[in-house]
Amino acid sequence: MTTADARIARLFEPVRIGDLLLPNRLVMAPMGRLGSTGGILGQPYADYYRRRAEGGTALIISEATAIDDPLSAGYPQASNFHGRAPLAAWARVVEEVHAGGGFFAPQLWHAGIARGSDAPDAARGARSPSGIIVEPDAGAVSAAGAFAKPMSESDIADVCAAFARSAANAEAIGCDAIEIHGAHGYLLDQFLWAATNRRGDAYNGAIDKRGRFSAEVIAAIKAAGVRIPVIFRFSQWKMQDYGARVFETVAELDVFLQALVDAGADALHPSTRRFWLPEFEGSDRSLAAWTKALSGLPVIAVGSIGVGSSFTGEEAETGGSSRLPANLEHLLDALERGDFDMVALGRTLLTNPAWANLLRDGRYDEIRPYDAADAATIA
Ligand SMILES: Cc1cc2nc3c(=O)[nH]c(=O)nc-3n(C[C@H](O)[C@H](O)[C@H](O)COP(=O)(O)O)c2cc1C
Repeated sequence: MTTADARIARLFEPVRIGDLLLPNRLVMAPMGRLGSTGGILGQPYADYYRRRAEGGTALIISEATAIDDPLSAGYPQASNFHGRAPLAAWARVVEEVHAGGGFFAPQLWHAGIARGSDAPDAARGARSPSGIIVEPDAGAVSAAGAFAKPMSESDIADVCAAFARSAANAEAIGCDAIEIHGAHGYLLDQFLWAATNRRGDAYNGAIDKRGRFSAEVIAAIKAAGVRIPVIFRFSQWKMQDYGARVFETVAELDVFLQALVDAGADALHPSTRRFWLPEFEGSDRSLAAWTKALSGLPVIAVGSIGVGSSFTGEEAETGGSSRLPANLEHLLDALERGDFDMVALGRTLLTNPAWANLLRDGRYDEIRPYDAADAATIA
């Protein structure tokens, strides 16, 4: 066994999230595939998820799937996580992933105001903290018509209950965990982000107030008696603004994370576009490393793992002769330091369903570079 092989073996050690014991540390990142009809995913998607489980990825996190609220879906091809037929389709996915040897967590999602005019029930408007839409070119603008209405406190309670109902659905159909989508500029993140939260009540102000809704969602799921582990995903970056920041300081991140821990979160999934980048000035620690250090919970790192060859200095350090897939040396260093517990792969797994097994078996030459065309297929 070479040193590289021994280091890679660490990725294949078991890890625990709450009561769930995963056989290795590899996770499929949630990826929307725009493939549902009437909120229902077809069998090809069950096969697609199964292939990633068969390929050795321990935990499959689904695409963002709309919770049991009429205004939760962001676009017409979104899948639903409520209703008889959509849940039957998800039950099929769970079966296939289990048959493939994997564990399964749906990513429960409410788009908030990040919802197209062609989304289901768009005429009824959208839920949001303050009726503010951020567009990549236009910046923050006040929405018009039904979209402009800020959520009342009773709307917030309704959405907490909708998350809890969909989490209970997940447990009922045999899912092993759930992930809450609190990232990327969707509803929970619209509360976290100062650009979209202009409220004058207990849900705005310092980070403890902007994060209150996120913590309440977790608490509602736990209060409903759902026993499968709850993973919470959050991010600094937004779909509408890659440079956005919710947490300017370590202290702000700490306050937010403590609220999630107190509410009962079982694991955290800070979403970054490049897993190795330092998060706050004055330290080399990544967002994942800070999240683990501050929360003490199991943490999933993500962002360009195995994608591209642009890792600063990697070619220089390795003389360009590393046999390992892109940026793996740095990932293994971080894992050894204890920066995080699990790693999620998105695009790499679209191109290479068996990435985990190929890596485990040292078949690096068979790993293909991510091709953007793969984002349009469900091979
Ligand atoms: C096609 C595609 C769809 C995505 N959809 C979601 C989603 O539904 N929910 C989510 O939290 N992130 C989503 N993401 C972000 C990924 O989960 C992941 O964080 C990102 O792709 C970075 O990981 P990677 O560099 O390994 O691809 C999506 C990414 C891609 C490429």
